[in-house]
Amino acid sequence: MYVESVSFENYRNLKNAEFFPSKGINVIYGENAQGKTNIIECMWLFTGGRSFRGAKDRELITFDEKYSKVKATFFSTNRRQNVEILIQNNKRKATLNNIPKDYMSQIIGNFCAVIFSPHHMNLIKNGPEERRNFIDSALCQIKPQYASVLSRYKKILIQRNALLKSIQKNPELSDTLDIWNEKLAETGSHIAVYRHAYISSIRPLCESFYEGISQHRESLNIAYKSLYVDSESISREDIKNSILTTLQNKQNDDIYLGYTTRGIHRDDICVTINGKDAKSFGSQGQQRSAVLALKLSEASLLSKSKGESPVILLDDVLSELDLARQNYLLNKLEGLQVFITCCDSDIKAQNKFLIKNGEIFTGE
Ligand SMILES: Nc1ncnc2c1ncn2[C@@H]1O[C@H](COP(=O)(O)OP(=O)(O)OP(=O)(O)O)[C@@H](O)[C@H]1O
Ligand SMILES: [Mg+2]
Repeated sequence: MYVESVSFENYRNLKNAEFFPSKGINVIYGENAQGKTNIIECMWLFTGGRSFRGAKDRELITFDEKYSKVKATFFSTNRRQNVEILIQNNKRKATLNNIPKDYMSQIIGNFCAVIFSPHHMNLIKNGPEERRNFIDSALCQIKPQYASVLSRYKKILIQRNALLKSIQKNPELSDTLDIWNEKLAETGSHIAVYRHAYISSIRPLCESFYEGISQHRESLNIAYKSLYVDSESISREDIKNSILTTLQNKQNDDIYLGYTTRGIHRDDICVTINGKDAKSFGSQGQQRSAVLALKLSEASLLSKSKGESPVILLDDVLSELDLARQNYLLNKLEGLQVFITCCDSDIKAQNKFLIKNGEIFTGE
């Protein structure tokens, strides 16, 4: 797929701006604090996701304005499509191909993108939540039905946690936990199967990208780390029973603490470089290369399963890579539509956009 136009109304410092990217590499350049990341952040919203910087919806609206409206036209599945997002009253509302949607999750899987920014280094550096978010967000784009299973799981978890707190005051309510254990185990087992399959599919891609990036000097390995999934052949029913048994065994701890201590919401992806944990032992460069390999794999799998390539959003990434890695990356992204932000306009590109104080100028 590729984007044909993007327009901004009251989006952060982009008061009123529009741009028309080309199919290949689009460089978005300019001095610091001009609005480059704002453009990338906004484009990611068209996937149905939240701000990749973790901003609240109201922070996306230009200071002293009441709403923000952003639109894109894009070409995908052999037709021109449009997506619009209105941000108002600390909420986002989406319209896809002129049809208003009740939930943002209903647009996931249409405008597909892969994003990589210095923020994504947290994928290796931070705790398991970042890595679960990585698989969850990648899976949602490939399989929109995953988004609804995941949302169901999150709701069940909130309800079970609320019940655990109520049981602290009214112990007789503990009989009702069985239903929530069952629901959590059932939904959780579906999620575990999806995630395990996803990691199995990107593992060989990741290994091969990392090998290329490190010029065959190092090796990367990833694995889905779950208490409930031990081998390739484990069935969903086995996973469900394993979650259920754990929930039942830990029930008293959960009641005491007032939250669900076990379940697939605690799972992780184990990333190792040359057999050693990347988070604890990886150098800055190795960690960056590992994220790059994960992101390239995500893009590759998304292309394969959708039958067309996603848009690639690279915020401030190129300047952080040495020349060999830059070339490797640009080479791998050949033929895709890519948006790259940077401070200078040195990179060879089909199209360049200068950003100055929230305004977009085409050409150099
Ligand atoms: N809600 C908002 N309303 C108006 N302006 C905002 C809002 N949120 C952020 N800004 C402004 O947007 C600018 C930052 O934009 P952005 O992060 O896109 O910069 P950048 O061009 O990527 O800079 P850098 O090269 O430093 O990464 C800042 O000047 C900031 O004050
Ligand atoms: Mg920036």
